[in-house]
Amino acid sequence: MESKEFDLSSSSSPVSDRWWSKNTVAVVTGANKGIGFALVRRLAQSELTVILTARDEARGLQAVETLRNEGLHVLFRRLDVSDPVSISAFAAWFTANFQALDILVNNAAVSFNDINQNSVEHAETVLKTNFYGAKLLTEALLPYFSSSPSRSRILNITSRLGTIDKVRNIKVKEILQSKDLAEEDIHGIVCAFLEDVQRGTWTNQGWPAVWTDYAVSKLALNSYTRVLANRYGAFGSVSVNCFCPGFTQTSMTGGKGTHTADAAALVGARLALLPPHRLPTGQFFSWGPNYVTPKNSKL
Ligand SMILES: NC(=O)c1ccc[n+]([C@@H]2O[C@H](COP(=O)([O-])OP(=O)(O)OC[C@H]3O[C@@H](n4cnc5c(N)ncnc54)[C@H](OP(=O)(O)O)[C@@H]3O)[C@@H](O)[C@H]2O)c1
Repeated sequence: MESKEFDLSSSSSPVSDRWWSKNTVAVVTGANKGIGFALVRRLAQSELTVILTARDEARGLQAVETLRNEGLHVLFRRLDVSDPVSISAFAAWFTANFQALDILVNNAAVSFNDINQNSVEHAETVLKTNFYGAKLLTEALLPYFSSSPSRSRILNITSRLGTIDKVRNIKVKEILQSKDLAEEDIHGIVCAFLEDVQRGTWTNQGWPAVWTDYAVSKLALNSYTRVLANRYGAFGSVSVNCFCPGFTQTSMTGGKGTHTADAAALVGARLALLPPHRLPTGQFFSWGPNYVTPKNSKL
């Protein structure tokens, strides 16, 4: 994938670039720990209204309390993205309490593998959470996206493990690279993968080789991001991008990684807060050691 450096240096800090106010609303999923938690902290420090969501109420409230003890204003709502009932309940609560949504960060995800493992035992749960969870929540919240000139933003936290170059199956690659790619095509590919898992044939069908089920979930989310970005267009009311935080020290990696969740969130928050005139859509950003210049490429 051809990538270039995206300069974030003039973003989000200078007062002139500050397009948001305390009435700007951001929702972050899976935010009781890890990168999601660090993203909520960063966004709350920028004085937006941030809704920290978590599937477990006690863990979510504990995270909120930590941030409130730091003097930050953060709201909490339970949200299990793998449960359509929980998504509907969240959307109903949202509409009863807010007029518009400005930023959605689809961060919640699971992986059941240790670093060097590649089991697909939990493939269905992985797909249901990482791909269908983000997609269903996005669909439920799309009606609330604000149509202000500052544009609404969706930032999907994905992974380099799920970029198209990791797919060796020519047919799958062709479908995903088609300029007419549709949601049904992505669903079809996920179903084909889950069938391969059920039949026990997944290892020789050209699926991504590392953390295969997780990689397919991120491949699907990257592809869905492209479909949505195409739907809204380059200057539409909603911008949709992906961000790979890189190998980050969180529970998902057993604490291993090249940098902290906060270092990843610093870049993620800057991307979410890009000023409208510099806000791209349909881009895949990946973390780089110099936080002002993540790499980006077209999805
Ligand atoms: N760490 C890395 O190296 C790395 C690299 C590339 C991409 N990413 C991506 O970065 C994002 C954050 O991951 P992380 O590294 O911060 O992992 P993490 O520390 O394991 O955090 C994952 C979060 O997602 C939540 N979650 C899981 N299933 C959920 C569900 N059904 N509904 C709502 N929340 C749910 C977890 O909640 P519980 O505490 O209840 O389990 C937790 O809060 C993920 O999208 C991940 O794929 C991470």
